[in-house]
Amino acid sequence: KPPVSSQLQSQPNRSSFGIAFDIDGVILQGRAPIEGSSQALRRLYDDSGVLKVPFVFLTNGGGIPESKRALELSQLLGVNISPAQVLQGHSPFRNLLSRYENELIVATGKGDPALVMSEYGFKKVLSIGEYASCFNNIDPVSQYKAWTNDNVFCLSSCLKDLGPNCDVLSERVQAAFVISDPVDWGRDIQVLCDILRSGGLPGRSGGHQPPLYFAADDLEYQAAFPLERLGMGAFRIALESVFNRIHHHPLEYVSFGKPNPFVFDNAEMMLKQLLLLHRDVRGMDDKRYPQSHSFGTLYMVGDNPSVDIKGARQAGHPWFSILTRTGVFKGEDNDSSFPADVVVDTVEEAVDYILSRER
Ligand code: G3P
Ligand code: MG
Repeated sequence: KPPVSSQLQSQPNRSSFGIAFDIDGVILQGRAPIEGSSQALRRLYDDSGVLKVPFVFLTNGGGIPESKRALELSQLLGVNISPAQVLQGHSPFRNLLSRYENELIVATGKGDPALVMSEYGFKKVLSIGEYASCFNNIDPVSQYKAWTNDNVFCLSSCLKDLGPNCDVLSERVQAAFVISDPVDWGRDIQVLCDILRSGGLPGRSGGHQPPLYFAADDLEYQAAFPLERLGMGAFRIALESVFNRIHHHPLEYVSFGKPNPFVFDNAEMMLKQLLLLHRDVRGMDDKRYPQSHSFGTLYMVGDNPSVDIKGARQAGHPWFSILTRTGVFKGEDNDSSFPADVVVDTVEEAVDYILSRER
């Protein structure tokens, strides 16, 4: 592999730049920071801890509200991360609020999927565990699951949360959301099939399949185990295969997250807001960063060629892709299907490269 210095291209005269960091496999491995990631991020702040370079985390992961994730990342990495810097796979679900604000919806995934949705403003959201507990025997093997406490929920507590006018046993679910990697695939596939093929109410018939939204479609991702782990895309394939065998209409769904171009457009918008904020904080000359300012380069630092690099390539200018070797990609050279603009070993090396290129 050529050293980073020889990969440096001619120094472009950029007006400004920003960075989007993937989290799993770039910044963290499981819950542990990847060596050098916290030092790399610290270089993007000045001595008084004020952000010098606008950056966001652009992850397909999630399961907890952005504000909580920002706090968690700040503690883990020792830098001050604001909720605006955390773009998770499910963050765009907040744009569906006008459609489902007062409708009964079900959310699944690790963490606290119902809390995520209620913080976005959805008023009648139940986690799939809460929802399942309203239907006796919906999961025929639940008694064998010593590790789950879903059975502690009861119908009356679900009803209390949703208000007096909601009866889970007679109201149709209007949409289902997969917020983060599901924990109990068996139960979730069963209950989602029940909801989706019945038109929103297990046991009833008729009605069109309610919309199903996935926060991302990663087949695999890098967690703490040395080999990649099955992600939300694998769960989607499992659900779709089963559903299409037991129902006469194929599963309809929408997947959000990288590599969709709108995710990169949204990241660009957030980075611009951070840049303008940074300008205001520092009292910079407005002429340098006017409201209409556009970035010279936006760097996507990721570990997954078919997600991070494909996304940045599709998004086009001003995106520039940097692939690390700390996650899904472990190759010597570049990825053959989705080659990055630059390949480095670690995020520390990526930041080094960016700062030298932008000097
Ligand atoms: O579950 C998380 C995973 O699918 C990807 O996370 O940070 O690599 O986009 P990230
Ligand atoms: Mg990743």
